[in-house]
Amino acid sequence: MSPSLINADLQSFDLSGVVAMVTGASSGIGLHFAGVLARAGASVALAARRKEKVDEAAAELCGQGHRAIGVALDVGKPETHAAAFASVAAGLGGLPQVLVNNAGIIVSKPFLEQTEEEVASVFATNLFGAFLVAQRAARAMVEAGRGSIINVASTAGLRPGGTLASYGASKAGLLHLTRVMALELAGKGVRVNALCPGNIETDMHQVFVDRGYADSLVKRIPQRRFGRADDLSGAMLLLASDAGRYMTGSIIAVDGGQLVSSL
Ligand SMILES: NC(=O)c1ccc[n+]([C@@H]2O[C@H](COP(=O)([O-])OP(=O)(O)OC[C@H]3O[C@@H](n4cnc5c(N)ncnc54)[C@H](OP(=O)(O)O)[C@@H]3O)[C@@H](O)[C@H]2O)c1
Repeated sequence: MSPSLINADLQSFDLSGVVAMVTGASSGIGLHFAGVLARAGASVALAARRKEKVDEAAAELCGQGHRAIGVALDVGKPETHAAAFASVAAGLGGLPQVLVNNAGIIVSKPFLEQTEEEVASVFATNLFGAFLVAQRAARAMVEAGRGSIINVASTAGLRPGGTLASYGASKAGLLHLTRVMALELAGKGVRVNALCPGNIETDMHQVFVDRGYADSLVKRIPQRRFGRADDLSGAMLLLASDAGRYMTGSIIAVDGGQLVSSL
C-alpha cells in the first residue's frame, strides 16, 4: 500500500459557505435536515407552502448563529418556483449549491378508491413538482459547475406497499429521474442521488399510527422500531457534502432493514 493511501484524509462533511435549499422544510424530515445543514455550516433556505412555519424555523436557526431564511414555495404550482429561487438568491447571496428535494404528500387508500384529484395532487407534488424544482436548481448548478441534489424518495418507490399506488409510483418515478439526472449531469459537476426513508416518525407517518397499523408495521422492520428524522442525518450529509463526491445516481435506503425483511 502506498503512503498516500495510508495517510488518506478523512472526508469532510463541512458545508461552510454553501447555499442549501430544502423543500418541505416546514415540518418533519425537511425541517430536521435544514437544522443539520445549518449546523454543518451551510446557509439554508427553508421552503414550503406554510411560510409562517419556515420563517419561524429560520428565525430559530438565526438565533443559534446560523444563516437561514424562510421561502414561500408550492412545488405543485410551477408559477411559484421562480420567485422562490429569486428569494434564495436575494436572501442568501446565491442560488442553491445543495438542493434537498424533499417536499411530498401521501394518499393511503386502496388503488380502486383513489380519486382522480388525489392521484393528480400526489403526482403534481412528488414527481412533477420535484422534477421542475430539481431542473431549476440543476440549471444554476450546471452554470456554477458544481452542485448536489438529493431527492427524497421512499422505500415505497422500491417495493410495492398496499394502499400506496399513487405515492409509490410517484416515488419510483422520482428514483428513475434521479438516475437519468445523474447520468446527464455527471459531466457537468452536478451529483444527483436519492434517499429512501423507511418508516420515519413525522406528521405524514402518524396517519398510519392513528389507523392502528403501528404494531404490524414495526414487525416488518428488522431493527424493530420506527426511524426518527435524525436517523437520516448521516446519509443526507454524506450526499450533500464533499464526503460523497464520488457518488452520483446512488439510492440509499435508511429503513432499519425493512427492505431486507424476511419473506
Ligand atoms: N415519514 C416517513 O415515514 C417517510 C418515508 C419515506 C419517505 N418520506 C418522504 O419524506 C419527505 C418528507 O416527509 P415527512 O415525513 O417529513 O412529512 P411531513 O412532516 O408531512 O412533511 C412534508 C413537508 O412537505 C411539504 N409540502 C407538501 N406539499 C408541498 C408543496 N406542494 N410545496 C411545498 N412543500 C410541500 C410540507 O410543507 P407545507 O405543508 O408547509 O407546504 C411539509 O413541510 C416526503 O417526500 C415523504 O414522501 C417520508
